[in-house]
Amino acid sequence: MVTTPLLPSDYLDLISPLRAGADLRGRIEAVHPETGDAATIVIRPGRGWRGHTAGQYVRIGIDVDGVRLWRAYSITSPTNRRDGRVTITVKAIPDGKVSNHLVRRARPGTLIQLDQATGDFVLPRARPAKVLYLTAGSGITPVMGMLRDTEFDDVVMVHCAPQPRDVIFRDELHDLVAAEKLRLTEVHTDTDGMLDIARLGELVPDWTERETWACGPAGLLDAAEKHWSEHGVPDRLHTERFRPGIVVAPEGGGGDVTFSTTGTTVEADGATPLLDVGEAAGVLMPSGCRMGICFGCVTPLKAGAVRDLRTGEITEAEPGVLIQTCVSAAAGPCDIER
Ligand SMILES: Cc1cc2nc3c(=O)[nH]c(=O)nc-3n(C[C@H](O)[C@H](O)[C@H](O)COP(=O)(O)OP(=O)(O)OC[C@H]3O[C@@H](n4cnc5c(N)ncnc54)[C@H](O)[C@@H]3O)c2cc1C
Ligand code: FES
Repeated sequence: MVTTPLLPSDYLDLISPLRAGADLRGRIEAVHPETGDAATIVIRPGRGWRGHTAGQYVRIGIDVDGVRLWRAYSITSPTNRRDGRVTITVKAIPDGKVSNHLVRRARPGTLIQLDQATGDFVLPRARPAKVLYLTAGSGITPVMGMLRDTEFDDVVMVHCAPQPRDVIFRDELHDLVAAEKLRLTEVHTDTDGMLDIARLGELVPDWTERETWACGPAGLLDAAEKHWSEHGVPDRLHTERFRPGIVVAPEGGGGDVTFSTTGTTVEADGATPLLDVGEAAGVLMPSGCRMGICFGCVTPLKAGAVRDLRTGEITEAEPGVLIQTCVSAAAGPCDIER
């Protein structure tokens, strides 16, 4: 009664936002530039944080221009960091809302929302004898989390970036090479051209014998998956994608999308994910991976129909029907419970 209309916990949140029992949050404690367009964000998680396994990612929610946006970022700190902080390393992409905000504008002291760490791009319990890390651009981040966490006797890394100055963590990688803990090949694509996976054997002759973790653009990962399959070793390859694969569904007609909880209606085409439609209209949309894997965006479909952008399948509203807004587009007028 005393605190109405706020709850007592709302006041506690002001005083002690990272306390046990509060919604999981974190506080940005430092932002360290890595390259011209990438930075490492040091986060102190709240009391409910359950830790992570090397290679996993965390979803963070941050307010950008008054809108809470959720994105996934791989954890780059080792699991045994003594001060309990975790780090993510973000590369700003052109027109990227959250990545540019984190790299260029985030300030120490900023509170963010956190989910527990998740993801199966992790090292196995039984240590492989030989390891290959195949990465490009910001795809180095989950692998850096692994390199900082676990040492192997025989680990090779092939990393692609336009130029030496674009290689995130370059000094640390070269320290590992100097300490004979890593064999590294850098492919500088501006001068060397794109890595031709068919010629990987020239860089790593025993690649088929190596348990491999690969993270980078879809083109690299698609080529790697094909190459590993063609050589009969698909199980040796583990991949992590930061973006959805190619949309295969043919585009259909869109329609008016109503977000009935907020009372917003906007016109949408049949190709734009409802997650993007809602965010552009200022509706608070939960999300995570934005590529159909984490189910962080599921929302009831109250009326109308939506199309799955991956398969073209149409889902019609029925009581209890949930849709993934990140991979669904309007297929005629529809009503989303947001
Ligand atoms: C499991 C997982 C782990 C991830 N880990 C990291 C990480 O460690 N470091 C990191 O920097 N990013 C990581 N990402 C990507 C990150 O979640 C965001 O997608 C990225 O920061 C772009 O968000 P944004 O808000 O800046 O761009 P948006 O405003 O959402 O998009 C702006 C434009 O860029 C395009 N776009 C979106 N994402 C990408 C992308 N990844 N590459 C190129 N173009 C894109 C969009 O289609 C759009 O046209 C990860 C993603 C996943 C799913
Ligand atoms: S945001 Fe991850 S499944 Fe939609």
